[in-house]
Amino acid sequence: MNALQTVKGFADIFAPQSDVYTFMENTARRVFGAHGYSELRLPILEYTELFQRGIGADTDIVRKEMFTFADRKGRSLTLRPEATAGVVRAYTENGCRSRERVSRFFTLGPMFRYERPQLGRMRQFHQINCECLGADEPHADAEILLMLMSFLSGLGLADLTLKINTLGCRVCRPAYREALNAFLRGLDPERLCFDCRRRLGTNSLRILDCKEDSCREATRGAPELRGYVCPDCAAHFDSVLAALEREGAGWELDPRLVRGLDYYMRTTFEVVSAGIGAQSSVAGGGRYDGLVRDLGGPDVPGIGFACGMERLALLIGESGGEAERPDFYFALLDGKGADLALSAARILRGQGLAGAADFSPGGLKGKLRLAVRNGAQFCMILGEDELAREEIVIKNMDEGSQVSIPLSSLADWAEIRAETKRERGRKGGCGNL
Ligand code: HAM
Repeated sequence: MNALQTVKGFADIFAPQSDVYTFMENTARRVFGAHGYSELRLPILEYTELFQRGIGADTDIVRKEMFTFADRKGRSLTLRPEATAGVVRAYTENGCRSRERVSRFFTLGPMFRYERPQLGRMRQFHQINCECLGADEPHADAEILLMLMSFLSGLGLADLTLKINTLGCRVCRPAYREALNAFLRGLDPERLCFDCRRRLGTNSLRILDCKEDSCREATRGAPELRGYVCPDCAAHFDSVLAALEREGAGWELDPRLVRGLDYYMRTTFEVVSAGIGAQSSVAGGGRYDGLVRDLGGPDVPGIGFACGMERLALLIGESGGEAERPDFYFALLDGKGADLALSAARILRGQGLAGAADFSPGGLKGKLRLAVRNGAQFCMILGEDELAREEIVIKNMDEGSQVSIPLSSLADWAEIRAETKRERGRKGGCGNL
């Protein structure tokens, strides 16, 4: 029979790769927690209408990338393609506005988009997502951008570019859209890709950030939004940039950055890396004042971003994982030692050491090989002689030395090891005992 396989575009993430994900999550919790953000765990499944209304019916995501299906009662459900719409739904449904003026949430987890899989682009991918609801001050924009950059540098990532733009608001954008449409009407539609020809009649702004060379070439002389934004939007954007400058953050203005979701207005941004190929955007976000109201909630402004964990993982590489080396590994040379190994491992763990117990008996050589592969620092050997003498042999795998200690002293031995380990950890050592 054929072995079953994972769904195309979905992946199993084993260690040490999963350690890199843990490292990203721990860094997120630390950095975002220090900025007053609390974790929100959201459902993965929502009613389809949430995304149609939230992201926009004419976006690529809603038109062709959602995993949508009917439940047993015929209601249309969708695996979340992003987190913002769900955060806004949860915020409104749970009356968060009545409890606090500004709410700050971060969410971690899988998202689903039916895209063509390639390096850095999966159908199930993971995002680290932050949303700040209730603040419209430019300093809120600056702070969330600075927080994003702190998070990325906390991951040890440099050489990233923050691209930033303003999309204006519902007051000033129609005039710009009109000017852009007039420009596009003057173009031979054949110069645009298939998707952009369709966008001509529906979402012309998106043509600006199409990655196709032909579209880039054709729209080279297009009017820029910056020239059309109203004084309020211009002042807001200038204040955001000034605050970033005061705080020493670098950025690049990108007048073509319009993003692929319809809810954005004013500040929009992306962080790109030159080091991971075509899917270069490691984070994206922006302000979405009006979205909460459009989804039936109070009229509160919002701003947020999401980082793509697969892309960050490509940049971090496997060396970024924080997995601790195991302290011990049990080598059973006699099947009768299993009871003892079970309780001895519990004693070691009770003192703060970590390791795995292998309860199958085997030859010493083979078991030592397994201990080496396991990476543990100490191999705890229990053979027939040790069992008879109520002792255990502890082999230091780094030094090759070994001692035999009475089982009754195991807890004391473990306590000393655990204290030494904690001491090393405090001094920033590598954890060797
Ligand atoms: P987005 O730009 O669609 O924005 O996605 C954010 C990030 O998720 C991208 O920059 C990328 O790193 C990652 N990403 C997107 N699609 C994939 C994929 N198929 N495979 C791997 N990584 C992917 C949003 O999702 C907005 N909700 C961000 C936001 C939050 N705006 C305001 N608040």
